[in-house]
This record gives sequence, structure tokens and C-alpha cells, in this order.
Amino acid sequence: MIMIVSDTHCYYEMVNIQINYAEKVLGYDISSVIHLGDFGIYKHHLKDYFKKRKEKFIKPLYCIDGNHEDFNHLDKLVKKYKDYFTYLPRGTVHDIEGYRFLALGGAAYMDSMITERGAVITNQQINKSLSHPPDSVDIVISHDCPMGIGVPNTPGFEHFGEPGFPRGEEIAARFRPRLWFFGHHHKWFDSKDDNTVYYGLSGIWKGFGLLDDNYNFTMISNRVEWEESGFIEKILIKLKIIRPDSASFK
Ligand SMILES: [Fe+2]
Repeated sequence: MIMIVSDTHCYYEMVNIQINYAEKVLGYDISSVIHLGDFGIYKHHLKDYFKKRKEKFIKPLYCIDGNHEDFNHLDKLVKKYKDYFTYLPRGTVHDIEGYRFLALGGAAYMDSMITERGAVITNQQINKSLSHPPDSVDIVISHDCPMGIGVPNTPGFEHFGEPGFPRGEEIAARFRPRLWFFGHHHKWFDSKDDNTVYYGLSGIWKGFGLLDDNYNFTMISNRVEWEESGFIEKILIKLKIIRPDSASFK
């Protein structure tokens, strides 16, 4: 089983907590983990967890980027920590356990004032995604949802407009992926059209998804305590950019 998670926001220890829950409590065999962005690629957090505390994930972990990563140093950091997790760049296709995944990290946060530089998916990255042959992708993994699939706005954020990134429908039309997974919105979601089933993942502190080797996907709720102690969160809360409740931190 591939475990699918999202939005760790530097609380990396939650990955092993959820793997252990899936294996020891539920009895699943987890072979690898795919992380859908906002992993928290920040120098100090990575150094603290992997180098100082000498922690490591108990299964191989692949991740795309979200909108809360250090985009100024992302390339350097993912290279430095390549023995701990594998970063999948935007617009690239990867064979993982027999599935061909198109990776498309990034998201515009709802307010351009606080969107981090490098977070927004560019037209060039969409074009790169579309450059692959039509029959070369089974599953799309993105951080944000494609616009137009019916993901509702977070209450209070309606004035930012429809959730999602543009041109996702071009990707769906070209590859007709069986599945499309995304995170970012911190809530469970599913919908389908003629070719594709779309699943939105909640934050890792609320649970995870399990993908078997025949396109069957199950969402599992398992609430883990979330401590509001992250460095970035503290700053953002202080600046009143996000509210203290994790639901507003996407
Ligand atoms: Fe996000």
C-alpha cells in the first residue's frame, strides 16, 4: 500500500506516527509514502529533525512542493536531504510502485500579498507537464486542486474566488488520469468526471489515504495532536497572516 499524506508543515514526526497507526493498529503493510506538499522544506526544521535529532522516516517518502516551503533554497535543501526523502519537481513523471505519477507541486495562496515567491504554478510548468505523451501518466499529484472540480471555499475565504489553479483541465484532458490527488485545502474531498476520480487530502494531523495496486483508494481518519509551535506558524500568527487554528494555514 502507498500511503498518501499532505500538509505536514514541518511536523515531520507525524509521518511515522501515521505509518505506525496504519501498520500496527490497522494491519496494513505500507511500502512507501507520497506527500502532497507543504511538507515544510525549511533549513532549520530539516536540520533539527534529521541531523540533530537523527530521525528518519521508516518508509521511503516522495514529496512535491506546496506553497509553504523555502523556495529560495529548495533545490539546495532537497539535494542535501536526498537520503531522507525524494523530491519530485513540477512537471516531471515518476514510476513509483508501478504507477506513473505526474508531479505538479505549488499553489497560489489566496492572497497575493502572502504568497511566497516561487509558490505559484507557472504557465511554463503547466506546459512542461503537458509535454509528456498522453499515455504516460496514470495518476496526477498536485498540491492545489485543479480549478473547476467543485472544491468549496474555506468559510470566510469566499471573496478570494474559486479554489484551484488554472489549466488543470488541459492536464486532465491530455492524460485522462485514473486518479488525481491533491492537498492544500486541509479537508477531505472527492469528485469524479468521465475519466478521473479526484481526491482532496486533509492535513496529515487528521489522517491519510491508502492506495493499493489496483487504483483503489481509501481515506483513513486518525487525528493526531497538533502543537502550534512551528517557527513559521508563530511568525505568521504574530503578523496576523493566519489564525491560530490550523484550518486557516494552507
Ligand atoms: Fe498549501
